[in-house]
Formats: sequence, structure tokens, C-alpha cells
Amino acid sequence: MVKEKILVTAALPYANGPIHLGHLSGAYIPADIYVRYQRLKGSNIIFISGSDEHGVPITITADKEGVKPQEIINRYHNQNKEAFEKLGVSFDNYSRTSLPMHHETGKEFFLKYYKMGILKEKKSLQFYDNKAKMFLPDRYVEGTCPNCGFEEARSDECENCGALYQPNELKNPKSKITGEEPVLKETSHWYFPLGKYQKRLENYVNEMNEKFGWKENVLQYCRSWFKDGLEDRAVTRDLDWGIKVPIDSADGKVLYVWFEAVLGYISSTKELSEKLGNVDLWKDYWLDEKTKYVAFIGKDNVVFHCIIFPSMLMAWNDGSEEKYVLPQNVPANEFLNFEGKKFSKSRNWGISVTDFLEIFPADPLRYTLAANLPETRDTDFYWKEFQLRNNSELADILGNFINRSITFVQKHFEGKVPAQGKMEIIDSEMLSLISEYPSKVAKLFEAYKIRDGVLEIMNLARAGNKYFNDSEPWKTIKSDKDKCGTTLYVCLQTIYTLAELMWPVVPFSSEKVFHILNAEKTEWENCSNNNLETGHSLNQPEIIFPKIEDEVIEKQMEKLNTTENKAENLPDDIVTIDDFLKIKLKVAEVIGAEKLEKSEKLLKLLVKLENEERQVIAGIAKSYKPEEIIGKKVIIVANLKPAKLMGYESKGMVLAVEDENGNLNVLSTSSIVKNGTRVK
Ligand code: MF3
Ligand code: ZN
Repeated sequence: MVKEKILVTAALPYANGPIHLGHLSGAYIPADIYVRYQRLKGSNIIFISGSDEHGVPITITADKEGVKPQEIINRYHNQNKEAFEKLGVSFDNYSRTSLPMHHETGKEFFLKYYKMGILKEKKSLQFYDNKAKMFLPDRYVEGTCPNCGFEEARSDECENCGALYQPNELKNPKSKITGEEPVLKETSHWYFPLGKYQKRLENYVNEMNEKFGWKENVLQYCRSWFKDGLEDRAVTRDLDWGIKVPIDSADGKVLYVWFEAVLGYISSTKELSEKLGNVDLWKDYWLDEKTKYVAFIGKDNVVFHCIIFPSMLMAWNDGSEEKYVLPQNVPANEFLNFEGKKFSKSRNWGISVTDFLEIFPADPLRYTLAANLPETRDTDFYWKEFQLRNNSELADILGNFINRSITFVQKHFEGKVPAQGKMEIIDSEMLSLISEYPSKVAKLFEAYKIRDGVLEIMNLARAGNKYFNDSEPWKTIKSDKDKCGTTLYVCLQTIYTLAELMWPVVPFSSEKVFHILNAEKTEWENCSNNNLETGHSLNQPEIIFPKIEDEVIEKQMEKLNTTENKAENLPDDIVTIDDFLKIKLKVAEVIGAEKLEKSEKLLKLLVKLENEERQVIAGIAKSYKPEEIIGKKVIIVANLKPAKLMGYESKGMVLAVEDENGNLNVLSTSSIVKNGTRVK
């Protein structure tokens, strides 16, 4: 049989912080399970990743700590590499984008496009921070929206009203890095003409989907990008950390981090080839159309892997004899949240893989994440669920089945595999159940339904326990030893099959089981074929999955409480000053008021803020006539989400208190306070 040639990549995590459980669920756990399964199948497969070491955030972390970016990337590259190793993520190579090999590859691609004449050079105005001496990327500039007055608008778009504008229209711009007012400077950049490839990209996505079944969530992201229309994308930046743009006129410019990071997959494979002493090995994978290339990523990376990277490869292929393979599938996952909230480095919410593995072994984490992968929608990690999956599934079902069977054989059959004996229906049914599993699980894994595959494997362990119970070997050992032997023979074959099926998911534990069985792994499709012969000696059992005690989990949960300041005696509804400041209370002068015909309660107000007028619908008509409210300076919630009341748009809410007669008193301030003043 011809073995498939498979190239698997997993997103290169930024070397700007420790990887956390969310990263694992998004890409690395499903990728590693898939790869290990393929290895058991005997496929010719390589598994590639590495650290993404360029980009602005890394330079900012470095500045904050007063060190060089190199120090930051060294720290997190090493830490993350080690975390992956401890977790058993079995990369064939884990490279880093700061290596000369990668810089060469990045430059080579840029120059190819440059020489092909497909890059366009364009001038534009960009904010420049004189103090930080750098051009500011959009998300590092904040100012007041020229359209709605929202004070935290980005340099080119307002998330409050959705307006798009030019950077020079933004009012009161501030650098988020130094807090200084940035200036506008002209700069020029090279753009990759993404739009030119739109038709081909749409065809590519459709074709791959028809042939190989892409995930629905991934297709949806692609379609929405196509619908909006693809535009030119700048592939250079004004920055001194990154891959230098390899042309003379481009002093002080580097390649845009996403443009080169995706090429990291190629350079990491080149590095692997060098390590293996076969420098052309990478071509075998990347430049052979028969290679099946699968790219594992999280949902925030879809556009880069389904649109930008493929278009870059198409462009290269147009201009070269060497033709790169494009991803055949991009099984992106949604996100994993942590105890109901997004992982957040700044809010200290979540746990890094390094910290996790200081306290717990890798396998229970791998299993818990695998059983709950965000394959179709976001899921959560809960400490309690982690404990439950370990104690009630790994320990009580899988571990227990293995332990009770082996102990029994050690005690009553001298630790040797008993004879098969006469098969009754219950026995042959169990053997035939086992024999369905390799192909059943394979089908799920190959369709990237990793989670379902993992849950199926646990079902086989459940069936094993039931078979053991129903066969009652503790009785037949006295009444019919041959029959008892048959039961244990079947149990041991089941354990062998489970150990193999479980290897991709919980490799460390699987190896222990193989050690107890005194046996080696086999090819995936043979793993249910009675691999343990009668008379074969087993080793002593050991506890494979120790239980996790309540105290240990509670300690972790307490840590969360302190992070969230909920501990001690604070009431549940406490808010922080930051929470409070999110609500923008402002002074607004009522300059118009009118009763709404259809409503007894509502007044339609026109109010004036600093340099903006807006309509607010207020439920005060029973207490105020229109003329009584005009001229007052009231307090409104200025950043309340606009809503429609009785068909009228209301942008804000007037604050009022009710007296004991049920009359409303609008909160107001003295007429000398300026409109738009913030109430703090
Ligand atoms: N560093 C990116 C992230 O963590 C992923 C880069 S994937 C690559 O989101 F393909 F560009 F390398
Ligand atoms: Zn706005």
C-alpha cells in the first residue's frame, strides 16, 4: 500500500508570552492527535511549527522591560518549546523566525514578487511618535472620532459608530505607547494585490471544500472576506525589528510580520532538512503536488491561512518552475475560554501551559482539552470539569478497567495471557466490537472530528468495564477456570487496542500501558487483531491515572478568586473603578423637548453635549412638561448603546430618581458647567 505523504503545520505562536490552554485547544492538541494517529497508520508525515518572533507587540514588551527584543523572544521561545515538549506535542521541528534561514526565505519571497512586478509602491500618511521614534500601527493610536465624538476611536476607524476615515481626520490623537500626541508623516510601502487573486482563491476554497470537506466555520470566515472584497495589503512596515526589506530604497523598513510568519512553515522545514543532513528534504514535501498539506490554527488566523498564504503561494507558483502545495485543509478551531471568560494576559485570567504542568501531568490535560475541543463553537475550561474528566473517566473507567484486569491476571493466571478457550456470544461480541474501533476512530480523526474520536475511545473502555462486570470472572474463577480465562483473554486484547487508540491522545499513559502489557505498538489497523498471545507474560500493574483531590483543585480555584478580587468579604456585585469609568456620565443641556403622541411616559429630548447634538428618549413625561425640562443641564449616560423606543432612536439615558410619591426628579447641575463635561 502506498503511504500518504503528509505535511502538518501548527500556527507559530508569538514569542511574546507563555502559551496558555486556549492555544492548545485551538491548534496544538488537535494537530498532535492527528499527527500521532497518522504515524501509527504508517503515513510519511512531518509536523512543523516554531516561534513567531517579529511584530510590534514584542518590541513594546521589550521597551516596557527595558531590554532588547532578542531577550524577550529567547525567553518565550525556550519556555514555550519546553512546554510543548513536556506536553508531548511531537513536532518534528520547532523553529524560530529570527533564524537567518527564515530571514533568507522571507527576503526571497519578497524579491520574487518585486521582480515579477506584482508589488505596488504607495505613499500614505501615518502617525509617528516622536518620543518613541516610531511609526504607530493603527491599534496603538487612540483619539476622538470625527463622526460621533467617541473618545477611544482608532486612527482609521471608530468602533462606536463604525465610521471609516483618514488618520488626519481623527481628533486629539494620542500614542498608546507614550501618551504623546503623534504627528502625521508621509511614508511609502509595498502592497500585495490580494484583489487580483480573489477569483482564484474562491475557486481554490470551493474546490478543496468539495474534495476534502472544509469545516463550516472556516468556510464562513472565508466567504465573509470574499463578500467584502479583497484589497491591496501592505507587506512592509516602518520598524526596525523584523526582516529587513531587501531593497536599497527601503531603509528602516521590515516585512510585515504576517507576510513572513506564514513562510516560517517553509523555513522550519528547511531547518529540519539541515538537521537531518538532507538539505533538499523540504522540497519533497513543499514542492510535490502529491503532498497532503494540513494547517492547524485557531479561528483568528483563518484569513492568513485560507486567503493570504495561498495567494502568496499562487503568486510564487505563477513566476517559478518550483510549485508549492497549498493547504488541502485548514481545520481551524474556535476559542477555548477559561471559567466562562476570555483568557487575558493583562487581567491575569487563565493559566499558562508551563504553570499547569508544574502541578499536573500532561495526559489529564490533553484528555480534558481533547474531549472538549472548540471544533464547532467556543467551549470552556473549568477546573471542576478537569477534575471530573480525570477522576471519573480516565481513572474510574479507563484506568480501572486496565487495573482490575491486569491485577486479576497477575493473581489467578500467574501474570500470563490465558488461553482463548471456548467463545460464548458475550465474548465474540466483545471481540467484534473491538474490531470496529480502529476504522471508526480513524474516520472521525481524518474528518478532523478529533473530539468525537476521543469520546468514542472512552466508550470502548466503558464497554470493557461492562463486559468485565457481566462476565463475573470473580465467580467463574471458582466455577469454570477456562471460561474465566477466556474473559481475561478478551479483556487483555481490549486493553491492547485501547492502549493503541489512546496513544495519540494520552501518549505518556499509553506507553505505561504498553509497558505493563510487555508489548509494543503496532500499525493502527492491526491493533484489534488479538495481539497478545496465550502464555505471553505481563508486567506488574501500576496506577496509570491517579485521582486529583478536591483540595488541589480548590487551591487553583482560590487563585482565580484573588485574581478577580472576589475573595474576602466583598459583595458579589462589587465593581472596580475601571468598571465604573467605562460608563461615561456627561452633562447635557436639554435644547428641545416634545411629547410622544402614542406614549404617556416618554418625552423626546434633543440634548447638547460638547460639540454634538443628539436625541434621547426619556421616560419622564408624567413628571415633566416639555417646557419644564428645556434649558436644564441634565446628566446622561453618554456611551449607552443606541436603542429604539416606540420607534424613536435614543442615544443615551437621562438619570433621574423617584421620590416617595412616584414623581421623577431629573438629576441636573448648575448652568455654569460646560456641556459635555464628564461626571466622575
Ligand atoms: N503568531 C500568530 C498568532 O499567534 C500565528 C502565526 S501563524 C503563521 O496568532 F503562520 F503566521 F506563522
Ligand atoms: Zn464614531
